[in-house]
Amino acid sequence: AEPHAIDGSTFMKQTGFSLLDNGFVNTASTKSSITYIDGNEGILRYRGYPIAELAERSTFLEVAYLLIYGELPTTEQYEDFTNRIRRHTLLHEDLKRFFDALPSHAHPMSVLSSAVNALSTYYESSLDVHNPDMVEENTIRLLAKIPVIAAYAHKKSIGQAFLYPDNSLGFVDNFLKLNFGNLAEPYVVDPVLSKALERLLILHADHEQNASTSTVRLVGSTEANIYASISAGISALYGPLHGGANEAVLKMLGEIRDSGEGVDRFVERVKNKEDGVRLMGFGHRVYKSYDPRAKLVKESADEVLAALGVSDPLLDIAMELEQHALSDDYFKERRLYPNVDFYTGIIYKAMGFPTRMFTVLFAIGRLPGWLAHWREANDDPKTRIGRPQQLYTGPAERHLPEGHVTH
Ligand code: ACO
Repeated sequence: AEPHAIDGSTFMKQTGFSLLDNGFVNTASTKSSITYIDGNEGILRYRGYPIAELAERSTFLEVAYLLIYGELPTTEQYEDFTNRIRRHTLLHEDLKRFFDALPSHAHPMSVLSSAVNALSTYYESSLDVHNPDMVEENTIRLLAKIPVIAAYAHKKSIGQAFLYPDNSLGFVDNFLKLNFGNLAEPYVVDPVLSKALERLLILHADHEQNASTSTVRLVGSTEANIYASISAGISALYGPLHGGANEAVLKMLGEIRDSGEGVDRFVERVKNKEDGVRLMGFGHRVYKSYDPRAKLVKESADEVLAALGVSDPLLDIAMELEQHALSDDYFKERRLYPNVDFYTGIIYKAMGFPTRMFTVLFAIGRLPGWLAHWREANDDPKTRIGRPQQLYTGPAERHLPEGHVTH
C-alpha cells in the first residue's frame, strides 16, 4: 500500500508554511522500494525478504544483487555477477602508492573515504551518471575494489605488505586473506570466521534512509559521480552516533573493565547524563523495540567465540549492561534497546580485527545498500536536487558604518 504522507511541495504551496523537522525525524525524503522497516515491531526486510532468512540462507553477494537489481539472481546471473566482481579486484598500481602519503596512524575510515574518492580519477572518461553501462561498470568496480582498499588500510596501519587479491577465493574469503594473510606463509581461511563475517555483512547491507544512505542520495542528487557519493557516505558513517558506534562500544566496554567502576555505576552516569555519556550501541532512531539485527548478532557472538575458542570478558560486561539497561525505567521509558552495533565489535575483535577497522567492516557491508539507493534515485526522473529549507534566526538587515575600512 502507498505509505501515508503529505507531499511537501504541495503542502508549502497550499499553506505557505515550511516544516521545521530537526534531525528529519518526521520527514520522508523519498519513496523507495528497497528496504522495509517497522521499528515498533522490529521488522527488517530487503526487497520483501525477512532479514533472518537472508542472514541464514543467502550470501553477501546474492544479497548485494537483490538490493541493487531488485530480485534474487538466477544461477547464471549470480555467476556472471560474481565473476565480473572478481575481474575488477585489482587496484591501479599508482593508487597503491596513495597509501604511502598517509601516516601509519591514519584512521582506516579516513583512508577509505579518501581512497574511494581518489579511485574516480582513474575512470574519468566513464563517470557519466546518465550512461547506464558506465553506472553498471562503476557499481562492479566499487564492490570489487572497496574491500581491497579496506584491507590495505588495515595492512598499512600494522606496517605489513599489501597482498594481491586471490581470485580463486570467494568474496569474503578473499577479504580475510587480504587482511590476515602475509607473504611469508600460506593462509588457510577458517570457515567459522568466513561464515560469521558473511552473516554480519548481510545484516549491515541496507537500512533505508539512515544518515550515510541519505548522504549518498543527497550527493547523488547533484549528479556528482558515484565514487564521490559513496565516499561521502563513508564519511557520514564514520561518526560515533552512526557506524562509528561499533568502535565506540568496544572502547566503552574496555573503559568499564579498566576503570573497575562496575556496570551499575556506569549506567548511573549514563542516566544522569554525566559529561554527556551515552550507552553506546543502544538506542535507534527507528527501532523502538529490539533491533532484529542485534538479536541475530548476539546469537552469532556466542557461537563464534565458542567456535574460535575465545573467551572475552568484554562479552560478559556487554551482557550485564544489556540486562541492566533492559530492566531499568530510564531505558524502558525511552524505548532504548541494543542496536546492531552492540555485539558486532566483540565478534570482529575475536576475528582479529583491530578496533579501528570495525567501522570499515560496516562500510563494506553497507556498500550494496548505498549503491542500490544511489541507482534508485539516479534512475528516477522525479529525483530533484536535495535542498532543505531553513528558518533564518540571524540579524535583520544592517549596514557597514559610514567610512568603514577593512583593517
Ligand atoms: N544512552 C543513553 N541515553 C540515550 C541513548 C543512549 N545510547 N540514546 C538515546 N538516549 C536518550 C536521550 O538522551 C534522550 O533522552 P531525553 O529524552 O531525556 O533527552 C532520548 O533517549 C532520545 O534520544 P535522541 O538522541 O533524541 O534519539 P535519536 O533518535 O535522535 O538518536 C541515536 C538515536 C543517535 C542512535 C541515539 O540513540 C544514540 O546516540 N545511541 C548511541 C550511539 C549508537 O549506538 N549509534 C548507532 C545507531 S545504529 C547505527 O547507526 C547502525
